[in-house]
Amino acid sequence: MRLLSSAGLLLPLTALTAALTDTPFLGFPSPWLSPDPNDVEWQTAYDKAVAFVSQLTLTEKVNLTTGTGWEADRCIGKTGSVPRLNFEGFCLMDGPLGVRYVDKASAFPAGMNAAATFSKRLIRARGEAMGEEFRGKGIDVQLGPVAGALGRTPQGGRNWEGFSPDPYLTGVAIAETIKGIQSRGVIACAKHYILNEQEHFRGSIDVRIDDRTMHELYLWPFADAVRAGVGSVMCSYNKVNGTYACENEWAVNYLLKNELGFRGFVMSDWGAQHTTLGSALSGLDMSMPGDIMGPPNSPQPPYGSHWGGALTQAVLKGEVPQWRLDDMVTRIMTAYFRINPTIIPPNSSRPKPNFSAWTQNTTGPLYKASNRTWTTINEHINVQSNHSHLIREIAAKSTVILKNTGILPLPLSLDSIAVIGNDAQDPPNGPNACPERACITGTVAMGYGSGTTDFPYLISPATALSHRCRQSNITFLNTTSNWDLPTARAVAADSSLAIVFAAATSGENFVSIDGNAGDRNNLTLWDNGDELIKAVAEVNNNTIVVLHTSGPVVIDYAHRHPNISGIIWAGFPGQESGNGLVDVLFGDVYPQGRTPFTWGSTLQSYGVELMTVAADPRNPTQEFPEGVFIDYRHFLTPGKGREGDVTYAFGHGLGYTTFEYGLLAVGREGVWPGYGAAEGRTDAAPVVGEEVEGDEVERWGPPGGWEGWRIPRYVYPWVNTTVFNSENGTAKAPAIGDFPPEARDGGAQGLLPAGGKEGGNGGLYDVLFWVSVDVKNTGEVEGVEVVQLYVSLGGPSNPSIVLRGFEDVAIKPNETKTVKFELTRRDISNWNTDTQNWEITDHEKMVFLGSSAMDLRVNSTLEIGQRIVQPGSGKP
Ligand SMILES: *[C@@H]1O[C@H](CO)[C@@H](O)[C@H](O)[C@H]1NC(C)=O
Ligand SMILES: *[C@@H]1O[C@H](CO)[C@@H](O)[C@H](O)[C@H]1NC(C)=O
Ligand SMILES: *[C@@H]1O[C@H](CO)[C@@H](O)[C@H](O)[C@H]1NC(C)=O
Ligand SMILES: *[C@@H]1O[C@H](CO)[C@@H](O)[C@H](O)[C@H]1NC(C)=O
Ligand SMILES: *[C@@H]1O[C@H](CO)[C@@H](O)[C@H](O)[C@H]1NC(C)=O
Ligand SMILES: *[C@@H]1O[C@H](CO)[C@@H](O)[C@H](O)[C@H]1NC(C)=O
Ligand SMILES: *[C@@H]1O[C@H](CO)[C@@H](O)[C@H](O)[C@H]1NC(C)=O
Ligand SMILES: *[C@@H]1O[C@H](CO)[C@@H](O)[C@H](O)[C@H]1NC(C)=O
Ligand SMILES: *[C@@H]1O[C@H](CO)[C@@H](O)[C@H](O)[C@H]1NC(C)=O
Ligand SMILES: *[C@@H]1O[C@H](CO)[C@@H](O)[C@H](O)[C@H]1NC(C)=O
Repeated sequence: MRLLSSAGLLLPLTALTAALTDTPFLGFPSPWLSPDPNDVEWQTAYDKAVAFVSQLTLTEKVNLTTGTGWEADRCIGKTGSVPRLNFEGFCLMDGPLGVRYVDKASAFPAGMNAAATFSKRLIRARGEAMGEEFRGKGIDVQLGPVAGALGRTPQGGRNWEGFSPDPYLTGVAIAETIKGIQSRGVIACAKHYILNEQEHFRGSIDVRIDDRTMHELYLWPFADAVRAGVGSVMCSYNKVNGTYACENEWAVNYLLKNELGFRGFVMSDWGAQHTTLGSALSGLDMSMPGDIMGPPNSPQPPYGSHWGGALTQAVLKGEVPQWRLDDMVTRIMTAYFRINPTIIPPNSSRPKPNFSAWTQNTTGPLYKASNRTWTTINEHINVQSNHSHLIREIAAKSTVILKNTGILPLPLSLDSIAVIGNDAQDPPNGPNACPERACITGTVAMGYGSGTTDFPYLISPATALSHRCRQSNITFLNTTSNWDLPTARAVAADSSLAIVFAAATSGENFVSIDGNAGDRNNLTLWDNGDELIKAVAEVNNNTIVVLHTSGPVVIDYAHRHPNISGIIWAGFPGQESGNGLVDVLFGDVYPQGRTPFTWGSTLQSYGVELMTVAADPRNPTQEFPEGVFIDYRHFLTPGKGREGDVTYAFGHGLGYTTFEYGLLAVGREGVWPGYGAAEGRTDAAPVVGEEVEGDEVERWGPPGGWEGWRIPRYVYPWVNTTVFNSENGTAKAPAIGDFPPEARDGGAQGLLPAGGKEGGNGGLYDVLFWVSVDVKNTGEVEGVEVVQLYVSLGGPSNPSIVLRGFEDVAIKPNETKTVKFELTRRDISNWNTDTQNWEITDHEKMVFLGSSAMDLRVNSTLEIGQRIVQPGSGKP
């Protein structure tokens, strides 16, 4: 256990004991929900939640906080229910790109592809469509979107599930996705909170992070998620500064619930909870999957669970105050009512799960872990609607043209096209042949692990290209082997154009391909891909390379190769992979994709290290010595990385026309807003419903007859039905005496200076500047420019530039459009670790606009405190 001093430093308990009396504990107690009459939508949901929770008994409350156990029910996660009020437990399902483990649902493009569109409209639409599918399957909570891993290292196994190593882009994307999902009546879950940046050692790694890097990089997108009203957040497997994320009062209580003002509920990643008290007092609200997953989780009670009956007992003993339990349940129910404002339990319109996550057979056991109650468990509801159109559009618009010497868009006068490489092909045994997508036997359209879905179908590039060639009378040649280089050369030499495909994938560490245990072992192409590209380019001077990769690969040789006329990154485009690619190749859809990460010339050039070997394997520890300098912040900041090591810059992507940037205007409207630290105190923690008495233990045992109807291996909320488990690792589970008395203090609490509202201090989102730029299409065809705004915060400890705005704008030939941006206080601030607040430093601030982080066309200084400039007249 560690405690937080007023300076925001976590110190070991023993070292602090003397200072405790006069030091406020900012990490304790866990912040509870307070009414906010100024926010009608939220207040209404909160009132309904309080009314509902008031009716619940102690064990009914505990039921809603605890999963029934791994594979116990039909969903990946399912909480206990309230049968007395006819209220079903919550059904939670993976994942961030669609409904995992079901049939008749869509395989959407991965998060990184959504980001690569740089289109807020498409990102929102993807969220809406996913939300509709989850809702249609009867799911309450979608376990996505992802902002952690953010993408510290390019090898990070799960980077593709999220959006981009740029926190601003990820912040916009996660917020739009959340709004989309939740608009369809499904609670979104922002995950994995926080610093789950690699798969190696993820269950034990201790990430030591400094306060500024935390705020300016990794926490940033989670602030956007909270501000978007996300209903739930999933805490991650790793440790943060010595304590597991799900037991971490700094990460959960102080940062997420207090500073960011998070009003939803925090659930554990599956098995990421380690103790009863540490998690409850540090702000966990829902235990998933509820049991401790595996031995000693016996089929007979008592079952292994940190919560369930163990939480009931902790409340009765007074170790977990009742207000904390009441807050857990009120948070869960507020998220529910906020997103389903018209549904009041008990009700009929709330959808019920109509599938089983564990089989697509129509009949099977309702309770898999206990193999009980055989019945119809899959109704095979088709929830795909017309989402294939949107999926194809995103696939096309996330396709990034990295290099084009003029061959693209492809001329219809081509005689022949040779399609070369296994990555273009239909997987021979179907796209779902490998569980968790953990193999590459054909084209790669998503990574592997729990962030996957089953493909309802998969259009391979070879299929789509052969179809398109037939339409246009182009001869289609096709060879599949990556290893038979003579055949590849022969086919390529015979053809007017050769398109060579190659892949590199990554995923989650419970599965592994070719020794890649989640994280990639290297940044080269898999399956002889680089040799295949070189062989083809030797014999064909019209070679196009298409890459399906989970992130950057080292491709500098192809960039410099005179015979390689085009390089395309298609990412993980989902079920419409081939169609989306063909739309862009032939110019039917304008290529607006921009790379959401930097392509370095070597792995070393990124300046960050994936930790694959731990000095102490029982306690692997990792510093993030690069601080805020990841991806382009590293490459483009003198003294950190080198611009010369960049093959393709963040934000780069070629289109089929050219744009000219003109007249830049910067100013602000109205009076310069002041910024004050949040002030005031919360109300005291409410006790919701009946107050429990510690001496009533006997009242909370299992009801008579329970032994007769209980479901084996199910976690129940009654006393004596679950065992309290100690952490099995380097530390012992804390006893109540290890926590400061503040951990249980339900008295009114002061606000943090940077807190106060959802997303933090409301003043952080005041608009301080508007910036506008004229962009003219100087080419022959209509096109979409992704106008990017970067800010230089000045000062020696800042990256040279940081992204702070983007707009995708369609412009006709010769047309000029004025593109407007707003800059908020947060956009131009740095985190001050002493004041624990954001501040605008004295260093000169500048704004840059352009079409990539290395193609900045116009710039201006930002005059801080500048007063009223009429819009349109604020020329620098
Ligand atoms: C976490 O650890 C880092 C590195 O040891 C240290 O710089 C930082 O202050 C710690 N953070 C907190 C909140 O204590
Ligand atoms: C808790 O949930 C389980 C599973 O849904 C149910 O069988 C049990 O009756 C519930 N307990 C209470 C106290 O409602
Ligand atoms: C599905 O049904 C088949 C036979 O119809 C059976 O062999 C298989 O075990 C079932 N799968 C599951 C997960 O129950
Ligand atoms: C599960 O139950 C079914 C039906 O009662 C039975 O046929 C099957 O053998 C059981 N499976 C296991 C693994 O016990
Ligand atoms: C490409 O070649 C493979 C191997 O011969 C074949 O199975 C596949 O059908 C071909 N693809 C197309 C689209 O013709
Ligand atoms: C393809 O060739 C056929 C026969 O030569 C011709 O009738 C047709 O118009 C051509 N189609 C296109 C799209 O060029
Ligand atoms: C990189 O990893 C891939 C996948 O395991 C492997 O196919 C390839 O040979 C590796 N590259 C090098 C240079 O070792
Ligand atoms: C490309 O190759 C073709 C066929 O070998 C040859 O005729 C042509 O001159 C080459 N073009 C260039 C630019 O090298
Ligand atoms: C729990 O177990 C203890 C020890 O066996 C027993 O004394 C107590 O009565 C039980 N309490 C309940 C509520 O079942
Ligand atoms: C702790 O974990 C280790 C490794 O998984 C296991 O061998 C050991 O039995 C566990 N000990 C306890 C007390 O659960």
